[in-house]
Amino acid sequence: MPLLAEKHIVLGITGGIAAYKSAEIVRRLIEQGAVVQVVMTEAAKAFIAPLTLQALSGRPVRDSLLDPSAESGMGHIEIARWADQIVIAPASADFIARLAGGMASDLLTTVCLATSAPIALAPAMNQGMWNNTATQRNIDTLTADGVSLLGPASGAQACGDVGPGRMLEPADIVNHLMDSGKVRALDGTNVTITAGPTWEALDPVRALSNHSSGKMGYAVAAAAAAAGASVTLVSGPTALKPPSGIRYQAVQSAEDMLAAVEREIEDCDVFIGVAAVADYRPAQPASSKIKKHSESVTLELVRNPDILALVAQNPKRPFTVGFAAETDQAIPNARDKLQRKGLDLIAVNQINATNNPFGSEENHLVLISEMDEIDLGRDSKTALAEHLIAEIAHRYHDQHSTQDH
Ligand SMILES: Cc1cc2nc3c(=O)[nH]c(=O)nc-3n(C[C@H](O)[C@H](O)[C@H](O)COP(=O)(O)O)c2cc1C
Repeated sequence: MPLLAEKHIVLGITGGIAAYKSAEIVRRLIEQGAVVQVVMTEAAKAFIAPLTLQALSGRPVRDSLLDPSAESGMGHIEIARWADQIVIAPASADFIARLAGGMASDLLTTVCLATSAPIALAPAMNQGMWNNTATQRNIDTLTADGVSLLGPASGAQACGDVGPGRMLEPADIVNHLMDSGKVRALDGTNVTITAGPTWEALDPVRALSNHSSGKMGYAVAAAAAAAGASVTLVSGPTALKPPSGIRYQAVQSAEDMLAAVEREIEDCDVFIGVAAVADYRPAQPASSKIKKHSESVTLELVRNPDILALVAQNPKRPFTVGFAAETDQAIPNARDKLQRKGLDLIAVNQINATNNPFGSEENHLVLISEMDEIDLGRDSKTALAEHLIAEIAHRYHDQHSTQDH
């Protein structure tokens, strides 16, 4: 069966030179079994004739928002509901700005605003327009809103410039759509991830914390989202930008983090505790700044809640994964933590002279479960996160198929 069989795809075409390549995109989508509805902007019609696209797609092209005859048939809301996927190729700088601004000033922007289908953009423009701060700001806004970006490619441009801004080739655009149409390892699951350090207040201006940068947890969140999960990232204070397409909750202390996790746990399928949660907090944070009056200060610390253990003990426990950072006896200590807390899996990073993961782009992880031990080796945090998510998905599905039988 073709990979896009019966998939409803709205192909949006905007006013750029690359619009002549849209005909080839329609042809390839149809070849893969998709049902294609072309929606064009007014400017797009100056670059390619609607008749060509109508002939290739087998459906009348839609181009007008204020069209009474269309509204009694397939109006803008019907197109938005009908779509399984929207792809805009080429996406002009002007269209990108309108979409980032949440405009509904023509049929294509209105359909994009009304739809719950995923939206992919294949930008095409002069390199100066692409590099312009305004365009980059609009692209950042759209990717943070969950819109996917296909390209642009770099190279010689129609205007004679060389640089980024060329539309991806039609075959590459269609390949991306086919990849995203595949069943992904965590499709349909809710995944909650904690990341970063916690800050335990000493007084209104000081806190006890640790060296966690949040990079590992953020990479795990991005990998889970790429695997199709609906991700909530509960993060202590970090300097990082949250990955796009996830729900983000910022917290400070371990108690805040626990409260945020408890709100998620009811609907959570997989929990991954990557945060370096402080074990202790000051018993009584001072209500005003502690002054430098005495030579020494004694702090009384009390135990923080053990978020990971509480999640694992919950009657509706999700598949629960912990992280351990150990300086001595890493593997035996992690195995002990796995059993004591009742985890399904634990990822261990050993802190020693050759591996200090704090703030680094790289790490060395070993995964331990009751059944096995896998050394993922030393790699970038991004690659380790992808490997970890693949392992979690495979074990989560195994556990559920066993429970279902
Ligand atoms: C010959 C010509 C080529 C153009 N090529 C592009 C282009 O490749 N990318 C782009 O963003 N704008 C391009 N423009 C400008 C757009 O057509 C213009 O911004 C238009 O308002 C876009 O409208 P739309 O986004 O509604 O389709 C071009 C304009 C002309 C006259």
